[in-house]
Amino acid sequence: MGRALARALLAAGHPTTVWNRTPGRDTEALALGARSAASPAEAVADAPLVLLCVRDQEAARTVLDAAGPALRGRTVVNATSLTPDDARANATDAEDRGHRLLDAAILTPTGTIGRPEAIVLFSGPAETFAAHQETLASLGTVRHVGEDPGRAAAFDTAVLDLFWTTVHGYVHALALARAEGITGAELAPYAQGLPLLLPPLIEDFAHRADTHHHPGDRSTLASAAAGLAHVTHTARSRGLDTSVLDAALALTRRAVTAGHGPAGVSALVDLLTAPQE
Ligand SMILES: NC(=O)c1ccc[n+]([C@@H]2O[C@H](COP(=O)([O-])OP(=O)(O)OC[C@H]3O[C@@H](n4cnc5c(N)ncnc54)[C@H](OP(=O)(O)O)[C@@H]3O)[C@@H](O)[C@H]2O)c1
Repeated sequence: MGRALARALLAAGHPTTVWNRTPGRDTEALALGARSAASPAEAVADAPLVLLCVRDQEAARTVLDAAGPALRGRTVVNATSLTPDDARANATDAEDRGHRLLDAAILTPTGTIGRPEAIVLFSGPAETFAAHQETLASLGTVRHVGEDPGRAAAFDTAVLDLFWTTVHGYVHALALARAEGITGAELAPYAQGLPLLLPPLIEDFAHRADTHHHPGDRSTLASAAAGLAHVTHTARSRGLDTSVLDAALALTRRAVTAGHGPAGVSALVDLLTAPQE
């Protein structure tokens, strides 16, 4: 991702200095006109905007520590994927260290960076975002989502929640199909039908979640519990791990037991966010 970010900045004509922990991984950026720095402190010296993108929070802290006092008075955009709480802790830390901080969440893969398909969300002081918006726009479509430093990471985490549970659903479906003698290639055309159903469902559930109104007009939690029980039973009878399905079934049954059987499936949002009894 660091390479993709540097490429986009250079393509937009911004003088760019690069540093990477393992030397030699900046050859592409250097060929495109970047300057190489020997340390984080050297990389940030004189930079009006510092873009940090490493593996995780621990790595980001290591690099910020190494940059030390050279960061004072500068603006750092941390594009490392973080938890919302880590992003908030980093904002407090930035105040102590005397530099401005925006947290950035990159929602799309490396191949999109530098094009409008890239979606990058920013949180932190609006004034800081406005000051650098033009430069940051060379990365793709950029949006400031709030002053709360954790907000960009919160969007990212929610989208990743959807991504990973969806991927696990598909992986499990492929295993169930295999256990029933159906190949991945045979299942794929039918699995492809599912994404077509999702856009209206995403809009509809979002509205229902925001209004706390969950009519069971299309499907109910009671019927969802029956459908999930049938899939779980089949998977278990083929000896598959059913832990993901068990969790979904248990949550749905809890809602039915609490009297929400006639409600729509989106009612689970309220159940998940209600304090546990
Ligand atoms: N790849 C994507 O499509 C994508 C999409 C959205 C968000 N992101 C986020 O972008 C960030 C970087 O992703 P990536 O795909 O570039 O990951 P990656 O290929 O694993 O690269 C990790 C980078 O972090 C550096 N690093 C790791 N530990 C370090 C440490 N302790 N000190 C200093 N540098 C350290 C690595 O340096 P070395 O070269 O020395 O190992 C490397 O430059 C992650 O937070 C990821 O979640 C990635």
